[in-house]
Amino acid sequence: MEKLEQIKAEALKQIKESGALDKLNDVRVNFLGKKGELTTIMKSMKDLAPEERPKFGQMVNTVREEIENALENAKKEMEREVQEAKLKAEVIDVTLPAKKNSIGHRHPNYIALEEVERIFVGMGYEVVEGPEIEYDYYNFEALNIPADHPAKDEQDTFYISGDILLRTQTSPIQIHEMEKGHLPIRMLAPGRVFRADEVDATHSPCFHQIEGMVVDKNVTFSDLKGTLQEFAKEMFGEDTKVKFRPHHFPFTEPSAEMDVSCFKCGGKGCRFCKGEGWIEILGCGMVHPDVLKRCNIDPNEYSGFAFGMGLERISLLKYEIDDMRLLYENDIRFLKQF
Ligand code: DAH
Repeated sequence: MEKLEQIKAEALKQIKESGALDKLNDVRVNFLGKKGELTTIMKSMKDLAPEERPKFGQMVNTVREEIENALENAKKEMEREVQEAKLKAEVIDVTLPAKKNSIGHRHPNYIALEEVERIFVGMGYEVVEGPEIEYDYYNFEALNIPADHPAKDEQDTFYISGDILLRTQTSPIQIHEMEKGHLPIRMLAPGRVFRADEVDATHSPCFHQIEGMVVDKNVTFSDLKGTLQEFAKEMFGEDTKVKFRPHHFPFTEPSAEMDVSCFKCGGKGCRFCKGEGWIEILGCGMVHPDVLKRCNIDPNEYSGFAFGMGLERISLLKYEIDDMRLLYENDIRFLKQF
């Protein structure tokens, strides 16, 4: 009986210390198995007096039951712990912020365009668009560009058929707006334009222009100058100066090109402005009376000014990008920098 107590104590101790399900099974085999300790002691029953045997048998069975219960409890406890650890590992914190998907980045052209639009919309302009595929008439004829003008040269213009082409400038939008017959007009018209140019650091067969036009009574060249001066200051900084150089465009008279003082060196001359101190930004002028007339607007009653700028040129300058091709690759590592 003493031996039996020892076996029980030893079994319970080992169960307590087992710590893992497979170890627990070893304990079961060692004590309750065919060659286990309890089985062995059962065999010693024959050495007892016959009247003592039933009591002894009962005691062995009680110990067996106790060990079995302890095993069962230990097993349940271990399984519970395993389950608990598993749940803990799988826990989801629903209050954590969601992972952000990469959705690309705004293009420097687009950032610059939005800035230009914001400035002119603030001055009461309406943003409008026109078709990329144009009649020769809108792209050239109506803008005083006769058939023998160099801009119409086959190598500059992509023709689709005889008199249908990809617009080479956003100026035809002026004609479309004037033909609508709603005066006065204050429009800003951004868009894609096409020219048969080879790709290099400053050229692309497809680029963008922003056209502007005002038609109203008593519009003068000083309105043009004041407007574009304000634009330059807002776009490139309060200290920006502007300079108008006489130029020629067929659809404006007089015409000019506008330079802004270099916003890098302030006009002293640097690598950025190629030592000039000035950077050419846009073409402009007073809408030619013949252009107004062609759109059924009386030049004795109405006058207007117009301007056109290259969007790529603006964004290259503003963001100090030195190769236009970077604008067309859409490499996210490049775009992310603006
Ligand atoms: N369309 C001209 C070009 O592509 C730019 C331009 C110059 C537009 C003068 C204008 C303007 O509206 O008044 O070179």
